[in-house]
Amino acid sequence: MRASLRLLALGLFGLTACALRAPGATPDSATPMREIVEQALIRSAAQYDFMLYQLRGRQGLPRTWEDGQLVLSRHDWTVGFFPGSLWYLVEAKGDEKFRTAATRYTAQLAAHQHNRRTHDLGFMLGSSFGQGHRLTGDPAYREVLLNGAASLASRFDARVGAIRSWDWGRQWEFPVIIDNMMNLELLLWAARESGDAQFRTIAVQHADTTLRHHFRPDGSTYHVVDYDPRTGKVRQRVTHQGLADHSTWSRGQAWAIYGFTLLYRETREARFLRQARAAADFVLEHPRLPADKIPRWDFDAPEFPSTPRDASAAAIMASALLELGTFVPRADRQRYHAFAHAQLRSLASPEYLASVGENGGFLLRHSTGNRPEGKEVDVPLNYADYYFLEALVRCRALLAVE
Ligand code: GLY
Repeated sequence: MRASLRLLALGLFGLTACALRAPGATPDSATPMREIVEQALIRSAAQYDFMLYQLRGRQGLPRTWEDGQLVLSRHDWTVGFFPGSLWYLVEAKGDEKFRTAATRYTAQLAAHQHNRRTHDLGFMLGSSFGQGHRLTGDPAYREVLLNGAASLASRFDARVGAIRSWDWGRQWEFPVIIDNMMNLELLLWAARESGDAQFRTIAVQHADTTLRHHFRPDGSTYHVVDYDPRTGKVRQRVTHQGLADHSTWSRGQAWAIYGFTLLYRETREARFLRQARAAADFVLEHPRLPADKIPRWDFDAPEFPSTPRDASAAAIMASALLELGTFVPRADRQRYHAFAHAQLRSLASPEYLASVGENGGFLLRHSTGNRPEGKEVDVPLNYADYYFLEALVRCRALLAVE
C-alpha cells in the first residue's frame, strides 16, 4: 500500500520533481544561497503536496513518521506546526491548494483557544492562527488568538514571575522550561493588537525571570527550573529532555536563542539582545559542534557518529540567527548569517532533506524529540519542517535586499 501510494505520488508530482537537482547531488559551497533556498522551497512544496495526498480521508494532523507509519495528533503541543508550514508554503509559492489546506487544518485547532491546562498555546495557536492572521488578516483568527493569549496569561504566577509550564510531575512544584520563551510571542502580539498592556507585562516578567535563572555564565541553558510557588525561589535546576541536569539540551538552546531574539524584536530592551547573543555565541563557538553544524541532540552527548542529531534544533537556530543578525553590527550579522546559511545548506542537502514521496511526506530527516525517554529519536518532526520553512522564507527575504 505504502509503495503504491509513493509511486502514485511520484507520478502526480513528477513535474515538480523534475525541476529539482539530480538525486544525490549535494549542494556545495559554490552553489549560491539563493539557489539553495529556491530549490528547497520547490522540493518542500512538492513534498507537502504528497503529504496532503496521503492525508486524504484521515483525521488528525501529522506529527512524525515512525516505523513506516504516519503519527497523527490533534491535542499536543505540536499541532499548530503542520498548518503553519502550509501557511509558509502559501507565502512562498502562492498556491491556492496550500491556502485551502492551511485554512482547513487551522480551523481544526480552534477549541485550544480556551485551553488553560497548557503553556504551549503560543506554539499551537501562533504557528497556525498567527501565521494565518498575518497572511489573511481574518478577524476570526484574531479573536481566537486573543482568547488564546488570555488562556496563556491565566497560567502566570506573580510571586514566581513566570508562566507555569507543566501541570504534571510530582518531582517539581512550579516547573518552567526554557521552551516557554517561545509562547511569549503570542502575548506580545496580543498586547499590541488589543492595547491591553497586561499581556506585555507578563511576557516581560517571564523573560526577566528566565534570564535570571535559566542561564549559566557561558550562555548555555538549563532545561527546567523548578520554583517554590510560596516564595518564588528556585528549588532546582534540572533536565527533562536533555542528557543531564548540567548538560545543554540542543533544542532548549535553540529555543533560548529564538525566544530572546523575539523579546528584543518586540521590546527593544538591550538585555534581551545581550542574552540572545550569549545563547547564540555558545552554539557558534562550541568545540563539539559537528562540521555540518547540525547539533547532536545534546551538546554534551558523546561525539560518536551514531549519536542522534537534532535537525529541528538546527532549523530553529537558523531561523533565529537570521533574525538576530538584523539587530547587530555588520561583522556580527555576517557571522550569524554565515552560520545560518551553513545550517540551511546542510538541511537542504540529501542527508537531511527528503526526496519527494519519502520520509512519510515530511521535509527533514534526523530530528530527536525526547532521547531520554526513547521517544521520537532520529525521525522527521513537524516542527523541524515548520522552522526550516520559516528560515527559508526569512533567508529569501534577506537575500532579496542584500
Ligand atoms: N516542548 C517543546 C520541545 O520538546 O521542544
